[in-house]
Amino acid sequence: MPYNVFVTRQIPEAGLDVLRPHCDPLDCAPADRSASREELLVGVRGRDGVLCSIGQRIDEEVLTAAGSRCRVFANFGVGTDHIDLAAADRLGITVTNTPGVLTDATADLAWTLLMAAARRVIEGDGLARSGRWAGWDPMELRGHDVAGRTLGIVGAGRIGTAVGLRSTGFRMPVLYVDDRNSPELDALGARQVDLNTCLAESDFVSLHTPLTEQTRHLIGPAELARMKPTAVLINTARGPVIDEPALIEALRTHRIAAAGLDVYEGEPTVPPELAALENVVCLPHLGSATYATRDRMAVMVARDLLAVLQGSEPEHRVRP
Ligand code: DGY
Repeated sequence: MPYNVFVTRQIPEAGLDVLRPHCDPLDCAPADRSASREELLVGVRGRDGVLCSIGQRIDEEVLTAAGSRCRVFANFGVGTDHIDLAAADRLGITVTNTPGVLTDATADLAWTLLMAAARRVIEGDGLARSGRWAGWDPMELRGHDVAGRTLGIVGAGRIGTAVGLRSTGFRMPVLYVDDRNSPELDALGARQVDLNTCLAESDFVSLHTPLTEQTRHLIGPAELARMKPTAVLINTARGPVIDEPALIEALRTHRIAAAGLDVYEGEPTVPPELAALENVVCLPHLGSATYATRDRMAVMVARDLLAVLQGSEPEHRVRP
């Protein structure tokens, strides 16, 4: 019997191709935008399964609206901080996600931000296009060396480890903060340290923790004050890991040199005070945004959604 499935956000065809032979109806939210809250509440109603994505709050109200026949909310994305996992568990709804397939793309983007912020790429691009460039200048747009400088990684899971592994060509000492050790980073000679040591000794600090109650505002005024004035902070994890007003103040007063951000506290809002600063590179949550990665995520999430509906164990179940 075909399954009744709702897709809350347009995803690559590769994923829909997996679902089509098994699902009827297979309804998708409007292609050009995220479903509104109202559309989400109506769209999930009476479904066997829902394919959701980050940026939409999947709370008890949404899970309950899906109704008693709903068995799965399969999330297009690895982070599940937008889903009430405890409520899903209570309601007997399985949650899945897409780990692993976006590790390299996200680690590459963390490095993109690191290099762009250190070498003032956005300011340079603006000047080159402006018609105001007066020619090579020994004093112009000096940034910060990357090679040989210390890289600090906060959260040494898959993505944090991949960011660390990319540092070898730059001959960078690596520090990392995590409860568990990372054998791959250890093999590089990386040092596992506490957060304060990492912040104080690193020239680049890259955040890779999931968003939990423990990591919300992990980086606030006190932590920013511990960083070097020449340090660059990179966030490709989740916006609320940083206290955003505190970061804006630290950048405005040059308490730290620069930041590279892919994520924000109140997405999709990028605070105007942040956007006005020259020493920050801002991207619109592009960590996993490559064609191949998004295709892999789409296939993975679709397969796991079907697995649950067909009564088998999904490969990527998220436990509360
Ligand atoms: C995720 O999968 O959680 C990422 O933030 C999407 O790029």
